[in-house]
Amino acid sequence: MEKIIDESKQGESLVLEPKNGNTRKLFIESYGCSMNFSDSEIVASILLKNGYNTTQSLDEADLVLVNTCSIRDKAEQTVRKRLEKYNAVKRINPKMKVGVLGCMAERLKSKFLEEEKIVDLVVGPDAYKDLPNLLAEVEEGRDAINVILSKDETYGDISPVRLNSNGVSAFVSITRGCDNMCTFCVVPFTRGRERSRDPQSILEEVRDLWDRGFKEITLLGQNVDSYLWYGGGLKKDFDKASDIQKATAVNFANLLDLCAKAYPKMRIRFSTSNPQDLTLDVIETMAKHKNICDHIHLPVQSGSNRILKEMNRLHTREEYFELIDNIRRILPNCSISQDMIAGFPTETEEDHQDTLSLMEYVKYNFGYMFTYSERPGTLAERKMEDDVPEAIKKRRLDDIVQLQRQHSEYRTKAFLNTTVEVLIERESKKSNQEWSGRTSQNVVAVFPKAQYQIGDLVNVNITDCTSATLIGEAIGYAMND
Ligand code: SAH
Ligand code: F3S
Repeated sequence: MEKIIDESKQGESLVLEPKNGNTRKLFIESYGCSMNFSDSEIVASILLKNGYNTTQSLDEADLVLVNTCSIRDKAEQTVRKRLEKYNAVKRINPKMKVGVLGCMAERLKSKFLEEEKIVDLVVGPDAYKDLPNLLAEVEEGRDAINVILSKDETYGDISPVRLNSNGVSAFVSITRGCDNMCTFCVVPFTRGRERSRDPQSILEEVRDLWDRGFKEITLLGQNVDSYLWYGGGLKKDFDKASDIQKATAVNFANLLDLCAKAYPKMRIRFSTSNPQDLTLDVIETMAKHKNICDHIHLPVQSGSNRILKEMNRLHTREEYFELIDNIRRILPNCSISQDMIAGFPTETEEDHQDTLSLMEYVKYNFGYMFTYSERPGTLAERKMEDDVPEAIKKRRLDDIVQLQRQHSEYRTKAFLNTTVEVLIERESKKSNQEWSGRTSQNVVAVFPKAQYQIGDLVNVNITDCTSATLIGEAIGYAMND
């Protein structure tokens, strides 16, 4: 299975069940990573309590919020285009207010208000609780902005509403920010320092989801394996914590164990793992619990030791192989996926060959592959020249994508004539007679509906496949104990 994204996720508007008495209409859409989609649910929940129901129609909105992504230049351009569309709507409905949320808000700050006349409101990822106050200012005709990054905001006390989802799988955010400082990456600047959420509030959210019929959660963070709860505060301040705090701290392996034990029938996924932080404990915890899915998203970015160092990825190619070997040994059925960047500054043909040979070693199930995009303010932008010509970046990306295609096919074919467990999520896009769901390894499977329903976990005999999808027939309910 292969997922090739040259662009962050496209905008998607979010709709919640209306609350009686709310008079204003909010249109909210999200771009970029899963964390943004999860954050938009938090924002919509906050505004639901403050007079706003959601709408899917831009034309009838009193307030338009766009949750933005800065990860690559193209992602920012997509949002700029979207603002043009809002502008056209505002000409017809001049009372409509427009707010920008997320990473672009944080990166551009008040520049946004200067550059884009349409924007009335700019709110960074840690300031969503201030939205009611900021909106009061906007109501009075002033532009409003809050881009203060926080040491402890995790929105642990806000229970996000998810009524427009498939009702089967949901995101649960467990950490915010990132301390890794990969030299190409804008995230540490837009989302701030890393902090973890109280495990108690995570477990409560999972319980609430289970009670409402959800069957799968994905624990979310920029770097989930570095999760560490010691009573609140920044990860980097852990050294200053008291002995008691240190002794009772909860790490990611502990958190996984807690969730898997408390809800043994809830499927558990997590994303994203940074190779330097993925411990044997985590892999062993995955092996211990059948309800933790057999999939690790393990971005590597490059196969060249020299480039890994320039990227400030804190592991070598050899250490990565060792980690892969450990995963294969402890979790023989585990699928592994990648993120790759082609054409990082100074990357030579030899470095590129190292990336291809690393891919040959791992044979990833799927991946997300990009050409390098220089981001303002990052260390790479300040210290290195973006010196790989665009055409060469594109050709190298193409090599990587082609090779991934072969590996995806190889991995998908291995499921032929086997029986896999599939959680039914939705109707297949190709046929209303078929269900679509995912296996534990995060591979999509489609099969005739028969007597099964959305949310059922079923055993499926795989008889055919494309490079990305398994095709088969359900033979009964799966027991997930
Ligand atoms: N740890 C994060 C990574 C966020 S960025 C997570 O939760 O997924 C997602 C991916 O975007 C990275 O792994 C990297 O492959 C890619 N990326 C980040 N910055 C980039 C840049 N400047 N140019 C091209 N790709 C980039
Ligand atoms: Fe970015 Fe590296 Fe963190 S890719 S989100 S700085 S792990």
